[in-house]
Amino acid sequence: MTNREKNNARILGIESSCDETAAAVVVGGRKILSSVVASQINIHRKYGGVVPELASREHLRQIVPVVREAIEQAGMRLEELDAIGVTQGPGLVGSLLVGITYAKTLAQALGKPLIGVNHLEGHVHAAFLEAYQKGELPKLPAVCLIVSGGHTVLYEVKDGKDSVEGIDARAETFRKLGQTRDDAAGEAYDKVAKLLGLGYPGGPILDQLAEAAGNAAAPVKFGPTKTRGNPLDFSFSGLKTAVLYHLRANPEYNEEIRKREEALREGRRKFEELLPLCSPKTLGLIREFQNAVIRDVVERTTAAVAETGVETVLVSGGVAANRQLRATLEEQGKKAGMHIYFPSRALSTDNAAMIAAAAYRRFVQGQYADESLNARASMPLEDAH
Ligand code: KG4
Ligand code: ZN
Repeated sequence: MTNREKNNARILGIESSCDETAAAVVVGGRKILSSVVASQINIHRKYGGVVPELASREHLRQIVPVVREAIEQAGMRLEELDAIGVTQGPGLVGSLLVGITYAKTLAQALGKPLIGVNHLEGHVHAAFLEAYQKGELPKLPAVCLIVSGGHTVLYEVKDGKDSVEGIDARAETFRKLGQTRDDAAGEAYDKVAKLLGLGYPGGPILDQLAEAAGNAAAPVKFGPTKTRGNPLDFSFSGLKTAVLYHLRANPEYNEEIRKREEALREGRRKFEELLPLCSPKTLGLIREFQNAVIRDVVERTTAAVAETGVETVLVSGGVAANRQLRATLEEQGKKAGMHIYFPSRALSTDNAAMIAAAAYRRFVQGQYADESLNARASMPLEDAH
């Protein structure tokens, strides 16, 4: 294969680590030809979170049609693929295995290389992909914040310098700067939304309600979260517990929570339908909760930037869609002369385009997986290199 051909390599990405079955085709690690995501939210909603057994069963149902659609939307045939990249971990083992088994079978049948991808490396690439779509190349080193329902972690991303000549692929190296010691930020959103009778997932609705709160008085104040030891570590379970105690101490919330739960059961879960069922006190509480989460995430991210002296910040994961997080980080970024890259909503949440993009460098370097490729529930990103 010539370098030119490598730069135009078409890689199929497959992602099934949690509750999204996704497939995408990306050219040369940069250009998205197709990206298909089948979300299982409707299945897990009534349980208020992801049920692993149901997740793997649903991946089994979705994987074939999702891959077929990704190939069709890319306007190509399976035989025209150059490689297949699949999420190896971290994630739910039963779910990961569905994607891995399918990817192995497909790679073998087509006689194409198989590449195992770290899901977190995928999230880093989501921020790169977004920039590439706009013709930009984020400068390294960078700080990357991955903030989702399963992860809240800060990395320093460096250029590994063993890039292949003539090929537009960087070999990034990763150093973990801090991570959550308990809940992920998205998990805190989901748990607080559940306490308040606002459904699952909690992030998008709380984001909208916090904005609608205007200057409704805050019924309680949440101070900064202190973590002993590494100041770049996060902790969100205390905040969730503080919301729980506040609700317990104020039974006047109960009636509206009951009404919202009834609305959810009847399928009324949209912002416009839930907003009238929220008292000013509840809106003030939600805004205060969001302020506490965002202040914390922004402060630790800017501290990581100060510690490493980088000029680039990459943000990825479901919570990266949060409007207050975007606005606050962008404002801070302007003040401090940082370049901040946020993926679009579609690239922030779990998708397979980021997996295909992350697989590209390994494809170029011939780092292929074999039959023994196995799912890994936990998989440090530092291993990725
Ligand atoms: O990346 P993702 O799709 O899945 C993983 O967890 O890996 O992220 C989903 C998480 C959920 O916890 C959801 O509540 C949160 O991202 N989320 C948000 C927003 N949109 C999604 N959290 C805060 N504000 C949002 N706008
Ligand atoms: Zn994810």
